[in-house]
Amino acid sequence: MLDVDFVRSQYETFSGEYADWALFENAGGSAIPRPVLDPFRDFLAHYKVQPYAPYAPSLRAGEAMDRGYRVIAELIGAADDEVTIGPSTTLNTYVLAQAIRPSLRAGDEIVVTNQDHEANIGCWRRLEADGAVVLEWRVDPRTGELDVADLGRLLSPRTRLVCFTLCSNIVGSFHDLATITTLIRDNGALSVGDAVSFAPHRLIDVRATGLDFVCFSTYKTFAPHAGVMWGRRECLESLAPQGHFFNRDLPRYRMNPTGPMHAEIAALGGLAEYFDVLHDHHVGGDAPLRDKARAMYDLFADHESRLAERLLDYLRGRADVRVIGRTSAADGARAATISFTAANRASRDVASALAEHRIGCSSGHFYAMRCIDALGIDPADGVVRVSMVHYNTMAEVERLIDALDRILD
Ligand SMILES: Cc1ncc(COP(=O)(O)O)c(C=O)c1O
Repeated sequence: MLDVDFVRSQYETFSGEYADWALFENAGGSAIPRPVLDPFRDFLAHYKVQPYAPYAPSLRAGEAMDRGYRVIAELIGAADDEVTIGPSTTLNTYVLAQAIRPSLRAGDEIVVTNQDHEANIGCWRRLEADGAVVLEWRVDPRTGELDVADLGRLLSPRTRLVCFTLCSNIVGSFHDLATITTLIRDNGALSVGDAVSFAPHRLIDVRATGLDFVCFSTYKTFAPHAGVMWGRRECLESLAPQGHFFNRDLPRYRMNPTGPMHAEIAALGGLAEYFDVLHDHHVGGDAPLRDKARAMYDLFADHESRLAERLLDYLRGRADVRVIGRTSAADGARAATISFTAANRASRDVASALAEHRIGCSSGHFYAMRCIDALGIDPADGVVRVSMVHYNTMAEVERLIDALDRILD
């Protein structure tokens, strides 16, 4: 079992100024543990200079950044030259769309969903101006879920690209990735997976996903703000480079038109120490980083499923609450990202009332406006979203339930 007290002891957040707050907006942004915060602070305090020049602080900065790239590649099972680290997922998908644009032929079809965050929709829809035909893989308006059979009906020899999420930031279900990516590949199309709401809950194995491109945001995976984009090498090489012309042979810069974020990338190296510390405490013994991380993510998943199940059990019992997506988390097929609406209270009021109980969560459409709209919910008010990660506790969930009992009755 996950020792949550030990996990929380790794975070200044849980002993600092807001220690008595229950933080339930982790799908918006997660806390940063000390092993990641320390190299971030060190970089900024001691060697925040232009890296890769031949003098000591600069060399140190470059080494720290190299380590950040290596740690991320190892964690997600990628080769070093397949990883781009840009400012955010929205910018990475935007750049990716620009890289694909020159090779589009009129009539090429691109499938997007109406379940995704707009980061994995808008940039693809803009390609209509270049002659692409955009088709929409639509959610079931009652549940918010996508049906693979519907995707099958949308695919054709003209399909160039399918862009979808591994886990919606509203609905929270994990998709049957193997079935989806096999279908897409057998159809001769490329796939882009948004893993932003997946990566905080399950360890990504980019190759095993069967996807061609995978994006996620490190500020939701216990690190500072950055966006990671992995691309299968042969796919990356087929795209129009988006960096400066003299950088087009440098894998880290090919798909990143801007300079890398030095301190943020250096901080990512600290994720190795975070998993080391957790693994030493829970499992012990030496192992490659990825194996340590996998062992920890297994414990995270189990813990999060129990938290989610407790909250869902409560919400299921309320006739005045509509839960979006699966109403059980027991089978592990759902992230602990739980959205709901209340029949008698606006979502915004529920979130504000929870704040009076020192419970941090939010409401709205969370940039998945098309999904909220398809569910028949007014995007101006949206849903209440409770998003939990491995450092949340059962005591916090009980506090939340007590508070909801008072607010909704
Ligand atoms: C599912 C999902 N995809 C994409 C994004 C966009 O990520 P970024 O803020 O890094 O652009 C978010 C951000 O909330 C998200 O939740």
